[in-house]
Order: sequence, then C-alpha cells, then structure tokens
Amino acid sequence: MTLVANLGHSDLPKAVKIVEVGPRDGLQNEKQFISAQDKIALINKLAEAGTAYIESGSFVSAKWVPQMATSSEIFAQLQRKSGVTYAALTPNMKGFEAALAVKADEVAIFGAASESFSQKNINCSIDESLARFAPVIEAANANNLKVRGYVSCVVGCPYEGDIAPEQVAKVAKKLLDMGCYEISLGDTIGVGTPESVRRMLAAVSQYVPVEKLAVHFHDTYGQALANIYAALQMGVAVIDSAVAGLGGCPYAKGASGNVASEDVVYMLNGLGIEHGIDLDKLLQAGWFISDLLEREPISKVSNAFRSKCQ
Ligand code: HMG
Ligand code: MG
Repeated sequence: MTLVANLGHSDLPKAVKIVEVGPRDGLQNEKQFISAQDKIALINKLAEAGTAYIESGSFVSAKWVPQMATSSEIFAQLQRKSGVTYAALTPNMKGFEAALAVKADEVAIFGAASESFSQKNINCSIDESLARFAPVIEAANANNLKVRGYVSCVVGCPYEGDIAPEQVAKVAKKLLDMGCYEISLGDTIGVGTPESVRRMLAAVSQYVPVEKLAVHFHDTYGQALANIYAALQMGVAVIDSAVAGLGGCPYAKGASGNVASEDVVYMLNGLGIEHGIDLDKLLQAGWFISDLLEREPISKVSNAFRSKCQ
C-alpha cells in the first residue's frame, strides 16, 4: 500500500456548514465606526456568495461593545434572502427581547470555559451566566427560535492560561442539556494546535454528539486551518469563520482575527468537501469590507487572488 493511498479523505465529512461570523465577531472589535448600511451591504454580499448562515449582529451593551449598537437597525432593514439564517448574539433577556423585536432568525448565547474570561466578557461567573441563559432559551423556544451555544476559551484563556478539556466538556454539556441545538467551541485567543484541539474535542464529544459541535478558531498563532483539519478528521462538520479574517474579542487581549472564510473555503474546495459558497463572490465581499477598513484582508487566499488580478 502506498503512502498516498493511506491518506485518503474517507474519514472527512462530505459536506460542512459554514457559520459566517464576520459581521459580528469580525467587526465587534473594530474601532472605526462602520455604518449600518455598510454592514448590510457586507451581509448581502455574503448571502449572494451562498453563505447560508450569517451572524449579523449582537444585542449587547453599547457601552461594552459600541460597534454592535447598530444591530437593531441592521436586522430591521435587511432584505432577507430566502434560505439564509440571520443570527444574533443575546447574552440575557434584554438582548433576547431586542433580537426578537427585529426578528432575528436565531439567537446565540455565549458562555466560557474560564471563570476569569466569563467575568471580563459578560460580567458574571460561569454559573451566573448559565442562570441568565436559561430564560433566554425558554423564551426562544416559546417563539420557535433555535439557540446556538458558544463556549469561549476552549484551549486557553488570556487570564488563566491552559484550560482543561474536562472543564470545556462540562460547560458544553450544560449548554446542550439546557436546550442549545449546537455548541460552538471557541479558541478565542487562537492558541490551540491540532493536538490540543484533538484532546479538547475528544473530551467534549464524550458528552456532546459530534454532529452537534462546531469549531470556532481565531488565527492568532497561524494554527486555525490545521486545527480545522484536525476537527474535520474527528467528524466535526460545522465551521465558524469570518470573511477577510476579520475579528478579535474586546475582552481577550491579543486575540487576532477569526480564521478567514476565504481560506476555509479554499481548503474545503481542495478536499472536495461541499459547503455551498462561491469563492469568487466571497473574495469580493472580503475586498469590499477590507477596502472600507482601509487594509488588506487577513487571508492568504484572498491576497493571493488579488495579486493575480492586479
Ligand atoms: P452588565 O453591566 O453586567 O449588565 O453587563 P447589567 O444587567 O448590570 O446592566 C447594566 C447596563 O447594561 C444597564 O443599562 C442595562 O440596561 C444594560 P444602564 O441602566 O446602565 O443604562 N444592558 C444591556 N444593554 C443592551 N443590551 C443588553 C443589555 N444587558 C444589559 N443585552 C452584559 C452584562 C452582558 C450586557 C455586558 O457585559 C456586555 O454587553 N458584554 C459584552 C459582551 C460581548 O459582546 N463580548 C464579545 C462577544 S463574545 C466573543 O466574541 C467570543 C465568541 O466569538 C466565541 C469565541 O471567540 O470564543 C462568541
Ligand atoms: Mg470569536
């Protein structure tokens, strides 16, 4: 048997869902104000590119995250494309009610595997956050809205260092038991490597079926694509990414952008994994927002294609 034959892709999913977090996770950390109209234009371009799930804003305190203060305007004015889910983050009932008022299609609650990050990010302990999420899930169910759950700092925390996989598993299981249909595991500060990610996923998948897991990598140390590949090998078929590699968390110092959607799509194309996104149109969306921000996309794939066009 040759080495090449041993490297077949039969162990990888045939299709994946890409959760585009650029308009939310991507822009939330930007100091430069982006108007609601420009964010809507970005969201529309992503939808036109075939992105079927777009996290389009968050209903959090404008004092904490000023860039997201336009979220109500965005949801109210979006011309929605059929088949696309326009989702929002809602940390508590106040956020949920705001999301409901403008008809967000889905909501997400966001907890953490690290106590210190939970305090810095949402001003409460992990247990308190779960208590705040319970009525959000209940109200979402009553309004036929699905709830996605995030766990942040699944490999490392900017305040506590390494995070034990069992701690991630504990929080992920709680979110699942509370009613989240999918748990997105966030390497918020992008410190994971394929081995630490594999260990973390092995622990979590003992309690949460792999079909209900998503991975959310920030590319701080350039490991995101390798980590995604490791997750695909373990059967994870939902990947969060941000167009143009936008991103960062205001409460995770040093956290750089999310893995670029363009890089993920290029890799999936090479692996023959279906995802439904037109790379050319996605590149256009990335150049649109990068031009507005007056910088190059943080995506090797995007920059490689752009230099070929110039
Ligand atoms: P708090 O100060 O503890 O809340 O903030 P509070 O209940 O004590 O209320 C204080 C004030 O905030 C009051 O207003 C409330 O009305 C208001 P005031 O009376 O002072 O004028 N308030 C709100 N306003 C708007 N929307 C709301 C809301 N709730 C209360 N929903 C809170 C708690 C969670 C609101 C705050 O800590 C917050 O907004 N934090 C921001 C969190 C955030 O957006 N972080 C970034 C997203 S998470 C992330 O990026 C990680 C992820 O991508 C995964 C990964 O990478 O790992 C998901
Ligand atoms: Mg994030």
